[in-house]
Amino acid sequence: MKKIENASLSKKNVGKTVELYGWVAKRRNLGGLLFLDLRDRSGIIQLVVKPGDRAYEIAETLKNEYVIRAIGKVSLRENPNPKLATGEIEVLLEELEILNSASDLPFEISEETTALEDTRLKYRYLDLRRKSLQENLILRHRVTMATRRFLDAEGFLEIETPVLCKSTPEGARDYLVPSRVNPSKFYALPQSPQIFKQLLMVGGMEKYFQIAKCFRDEDLRADRQPEFTQIDLEMSFVEEEDVMDLGERLTAAIFKEIKGIDIPLPLRRMKYDEAVNVYGSDKPDLRFEMPIQELTNLFADTEVSFIKSALEEGGIINAVVAKNCANQYSRKEIDKLTDFVKSYQASGLIYLKLEEELTGSIAKALTEEEKNNLIETLSLEPNDLVFMVVGKKKIVKQSLGALRLKLGHDLHLIDPNRYELLWVVDFPSFEFSEEENRYVACHHPFTAPKDEDVSKLMTDKANCYSKAYDIVINGYEAGGGSIRIHNQDVQATMFEALELTEEEIQEKFGFFVDALKYGTPPHGGMAFGLDRMVMLLSGTENIREVIAFPKTASASCLMSEAPNVVSEKQLKELHISLEK
Ligand code: AMO
Repeated sequence: MKKIENASLSKKNVGKTVELYGWVAKRRNLGGLLFLDLRDRSGIIQLVVKPGDRAYEIAETLKNEYVIRAIGKVSLRENPNPKLATGEIEVLLEELEILNSASDLPFEISEETTALEDTRLKYRYLDLRRKSLQENLILRHRVTMATRRFLDAEGFLEIETPVLCKSTPEGARDYLVPSRVNPSKFYALPQSPQIFKQLLMVGGMEKYFQIAKCFRDEDLRADRQPEFTQIDLEMSFVEEEDVMDLGERLTAAIFKEIKGIDIPLPLRRMKYDEAVNVYGSDKPDLRFEMPIQELTNLFADTEVSFIKSALEEGGIINAVVAKNCANQYSRKEIDKLTDFVKSYQASGLIYLKLEEELTGSIAKALTEEEKNNLIETLSLEPNDLVFMVVGKKKIVKQSLGALRLKLGHDLHLIDPNRYELLWVVDFPSFEFSEEENRYVACHHPFTAPKDEDVSKLMTDKANCYSKAYDIVINGYEAGGGSIRIHNQDVQATMFEALELTEEEIQEKFGFFVDALKYGTPPHGGMAFGLDRMVMLLSGTENIREVIAFPKTASASCLMSEAPNVVSEKQLKELHISLEK
C-alpha cells in the first residue's frame, strides 16, 4: 500500500505528488472551486479541485463519509488554517477514485456533535471516527504498550488465564455461562484473575502480569463497567513495600510516557483510618484541602438538644469549612446542600457563617463559649462558611466527605491539570455488614493480615488490619492489591473468621486451599483499573469514552443489542427452561 498519512505532510512536501486515502469529512463549493476535507486516522488535510480538472466530475458527487483514494500535488495554501496541523498546505487533486459510498449519517461526525450519547453508542463505529475517541484509544494503546515494556524489562511474564472459570464469591455478582456438555453446571466469567495469578505463583512463575478482562455484575456508575480491563500483576518473595515500589514506578513510567510528567517517588502514604477521618473516603482527592474536622469534644457539654442526644447515642459531630464564601451561599443553596447530604443518609446539615458574628442554623442555641471555641478550633475568619453533620461515625464521614468533594468542584478549588497520587494503606481486614449482620472481608479472603493481627482474627475482628494497599489518583481508586496469605493455617483461620463452614470452603475454594499445601511461596500483587487510568490521563469523567465498545448503565450494548434472547434450540441444548 502506498497510503501516506495525512498528518505526515507539511510545507516540506510542497511540489510532491502524494497518494491519499480516507473519508470525506466535509465538502465545500466556493465559486466553483471544490474544497474537500479528507480525514484519516492521523488527521485532516484539504484537497482542492477546480472546474475542468479530470477529478472534478467525480468530486461533485462526493458526500460526507464517502471513502476515497486521491492523488495530487502538495501545494502551499493561500489562506493557511492555523487550527489544522496541515493548515499551511493543500493537495491539488489530479486523480480521484470513490472506493465506497456512504448513506446519510444518523449524526454529524464532529467534535461539536449534539447527538445524544445513546445515538452515538448505537452507531459506535461512526462515533469512533471522531477525533476525541480516536485520541482516547490511541492513548489507551500507548498505556498498554508502556506497561508491557516496563513489566517486561522488570522480568514479568505475560500469561493468560481462563475466562470460563468456576464461580467463587469475590464481592460482586458473577456473570454465569451454562455448560452444554455438563448439564445443570455453569462457568463464571472471572471478576479478576485473582485465584489464577496466585496459582501461577504456586506454579513457580515468580512474576506474572496480564492485561486482563474482568466481569462483574454490579450496579454501574460513571467509572464502572460490567466488563473492564485490569493491568493485573503478581510477584513471589515480596512484601508490601516491594509491590508498592513496583506499582508506583509503573505508574510513574506511564505518566512520563503519556504526560511527560515526572511523578515524584516514593508516593505519599496515608493510613486508611486517616483517609476516612480526614477526607471521609478511602480514596481522598488531595488536589484541595478542606479537611473534615473533629468537634465531638467541643460539643461534649452542649445543650443543643439534637446534638446532645446524637452524641449520647455514641454519635460524633464533624465539620468542613468552606473558606471565604459565606456570601456566595443563600438559604436556598444551603437547602440544596442539605438534600445532598441527606442522600448520604445524614439526618441534616448544620451551617454557620462568620459574619459580624456567628450566624446560621444553630447559632442562637450556642453558648458564647461554644461559639468562641468553634471560631478558635476551626480557625474561622470573616466570610467563612461551616458545615456540620452529627450522627453515626460512618454516616458523618461519608456525607461530609461527599460534601467536601462537591464544594471542591462547585467552588472551583480543583485544578484539573494537577495530579495528586497516594497510597492508602493499612486497610481493615474486615468490615461489618449490617445487611448480613456479620464481619465480611474488606478485600478478598486471601488478603494477608498484618503479622501482629494474625492472633486477633477470631477474637478482635474490628481491630485487625491487612497488608493491603490502594493507589489513589485525584480521588479515584486507580488500583489496589495486597500481600496474600501463603500459610495454610492462617488461610484456614481467615475462612473460619469469615464464618465459612468446612463444606463451603471445600466447595468454593477446595482446589485453591489444596494448592497452598504444596510449597506456596510468599507472594503478593495488585491490579490497576486500565480504563480508569486512561480516563484520568485523558481528562474524561466518563469511562465509556475510553472503551471502544462500551455498555450502557443497564449493561447493554446499544449497537449489537446484547444481551438478547436466544432460540429455543439453544436453550434446550443447554438444558435451560425459562420462567414464563
Ligand atoms: P479490585 O477489585 O480493587 O482488585 O480491582 C482493581 C482495580 O480495578 C478497577 N475496577 C474497575 N474498573 C472499571 N469498572 C469496574 N466495574 C471496576 N471494578 C474495579 C479499579 C480497581 O482499583 N484481584 C484484585 C487485585 C489484587 O488484589 O491484586 C482486584 O480485582 O481501578
